[in-house]
Amino acid sequence: MTQTATVQNIDEQTQLRDELLAGLRRTQKTLPSKYFYDDVGSALFEDICALREYYPTRTEIGILEHNIHDIAARIGSRCLLIEYGSGASVKIRLLLDHLRGIAGYVPIDISAEHLLSAADELRAEYPKLRILPVPADYTLEFDLPDIEFPYDRRVVFFPGSTIGNFTPEQARDFLSHIAETAAEDGGLLIGVDLKKDIAVLEAAYNDSRGVTADFNLNMLVRLNKEFDGDFDLDAFRHSAVYNAAVGRIEMHLVSKHEQVARVAGEQFLFRAGESILTEYSYKYTPEEFAELAAPYFNVESVWTDQKRWFSVQYLAVRQ
Ligand code: AVI
Repeated sequence: MTQTATVQNIDEQTQLRDELLAGLRRTQKTLPSKYFYDDVGSALFEDICALREYYPTRTEIGILEHNIHDIAARIGSRCLLIEYGSGASVKIRLLLDHLRGIAGYVPIDISAEHLLSAADELRAEYPKLRILPVPADYTLEFDLPDIEFPYDRRVVFFPGSTIGNFTPEQARDFLSHIAETAAEDGGLLIGVDLKKDIAVLEAAYNDSRGVTADFNLNMLVRLNKEFDGDFDLDAFRHSAVYNAAVGRIEMHLVSKHEQVARVAGEQFLFRAGESILTEYSYKYTPEEFAELAAPYFNVESVWTDQKRWFSVQYLAVRQ
């Protein structure tokens, strides 16, 4: 490891510790949802995606499969496809198989290791495709690599309804950055989870095998391991409830009784029933999402499944 990398990692670690402590000091204690995704959390999230109750992944793949020719026609030929988040999935392969004369593929992911191994796998499968991986946190500023080949338009691919994990204010800000990245004449192909029956929503985040509970509790496992915490995992329970007034699933870790937990040299008092908020997952109607994106994008196409549980949308950057 180089000297610079070590210094950078120490900086990142300090920044993360400060962020975690600041969240835990708040009246409504919070932990950032990006903290779910260490190796264990990422593996648990893959298990969630395969659960019967967790409809978003299979529904989104179904929508992509059923409409892939239409989607490819909408995107047009010779695009530079920029994917926000890891590109090892069946979703990206569907696009790569069907986009006409795709000029290049730029996957962006925070985990350099996963990104580079996924890029190697894709290079083996698509030897003619130009693949330019960018290891970066796509929620922050990052530079695209120099593109030294011609293309007609940039299209950002942001599947999975990860946009729902931002508050609407954050989502609007993020959409403005995507519009800058996609630039003039560019577009955004995005997965957006839709409002639906509350029982369906709550079942998706309270699965019967308890995988989502383990995913949520893994936050505390990480705090114990990485920041010298002493959280008692048996003293917290997973909770996920749909807040209909604001249209979001709210995920919490609820303290079963009064207790004190220590982490990174600080102690935190939890009353019985007090919680740490770990995630929002917003659900939109197509109209609400169009309104949210309106300052930066025009919604050109919305594809849904028969039950209208999930949508894949193509948005064009406003000129
Ligand atoms: C990544 N994101 C879109 C998931 C969601 O549905 O909000 C994360 C998740 N949390 C619990 N289950 C899945």
